[in-house]
Amino acid sequence: MARIAVVAGDGIGPEVVAQARKVIDAVLPGVTATEYDLGAARYHRTGEVLPDSVLTELAGHDAILLGAVGDPTVPPGVLERGLLLKLRFAFDQYVNLRPSRLWPGTAGPLANVKPGEVDLVVVREGTEGLYAGAGGSLHRDTPAEVATEESLNTRHGVERVIRDAFTRAARRERRRVTLVHKTNVLTHAGSLWARAFEAVAAEHPDVTTEYQHVDAAAMFLVTQPQRYDVVVTDNLFGDILTDIAAAVTGGIGLAASGCINPEGRYPSMFEPVHGSAPDIAGKGVADPVAAVLSAALLLEQLGHPDAAVRVTEAVATELSQRTPGVPLRTEEVGDRLAGYATA
Ligand code: NAI
Ligand code: MG
Repeated sequence: MARIAVVAGDGIGPEVVAQARKVIDAVLPGVTATEYDLGAARYHRTGEVLPDSVLTELAGHDAILLGAVGDPTVPPGVLERGLLLKLRFAFDQYVNLRPSRLWPGTAGPLANVKPGEVDLVVVREGTEGLYAGAGGSLHRDTPAEVATEESLNTRHGVERVIRDAFTRAARRERRRVTLVHKTNVLTHAGSLWARAFEAVAAEHPDVTTEYQHVDAAAMFLVTQPQRYDVVVTDNLFGDILTDIAAAVTGGIGLAASGCINPEGRYPSMFEPVHGSAPDIAGKGVADPVAAVLSAALLLEQLGHPDAAVRVTEAVATELSQRTPGVPLRTEEVGDRLAGYATA
């Protein structure tokens, strides 16, 4: 039976992760879960972010379920780079999978898009680009201060994530992949991405392809999100575009993600896209759906597609019965989802 590591983290992280675990236990009894105390609270208590010993222990699990880390009291970057990015890089989670659906019953902000019409997935590169940490600074805090941040793109890294996007598209109904980049300005990286895309596309004559510049894609995600099926893009563009995709499909409380090492050499990590939401933490009002949908991605990755479908259908039932504007209780939503998933 699967062994998962749980990093509930800070703020609403523990509140929503508790519901995700409830649902996992309901559809797949017998999963063992080991909790790891990481995040802002531990950082303040001990100064530790991600000790090597913990990294080694995490590596021994089949998957990681993460809530959220972060707090206004921790300097920016400490937990993001030291924990989240370190895990993504150390475990070679090069596919950052971010699906977005406009669920029936959910009110999105777009007047021209009807529930059920949007069903897209962004395959964001997770280990390279501007997030690789290449760069530095000189003469800090002087008028001569210089800072650089370089985008790293390897043929190996780009080709493997594009290949993953095509494999996913080939299994979907519309079988369409959109490459998003900025090849007209970022010509070095853009050319590498475009040539790798063409090469992989040639292996998939059954998949339709298109290319868009990232600024156009930002616009079309708002004006015509229905047009997308699978979108493949670099680390930074994917980060930004997936917040737009979340916003147009009912908000951050519903957005799930997986940081995936497709070969399974390391554990993949599943987490809601949202953060620790300090403004609502402790009130029991956070929407656990993003965490529960992340758990569905986890179940899928661990080879339990039936359990994953039951969880996704439970979410569909829950959302179809919501009345916009009526406040929710985190625990009650979790209880209902566990119930629907096992009905
Ligand atoms: P956030 O996602 O925590 O919150 C943004 C807004 O969305 C807030 O108004 C919040 O109440 C609301 N919200 C978020 N999740 C919700 C849910 N499940 N149900 C209902 N409302 C929800 O982003 P913010 O405020 O920029 O960051 C807060 C902290 O979280 C920061 O320390 C940040 O660094 C960290 N963070 C961590 C992430 C992670 O662990 N993967 C991702 C994003 C931010
Ligand atoms: Mg983000």
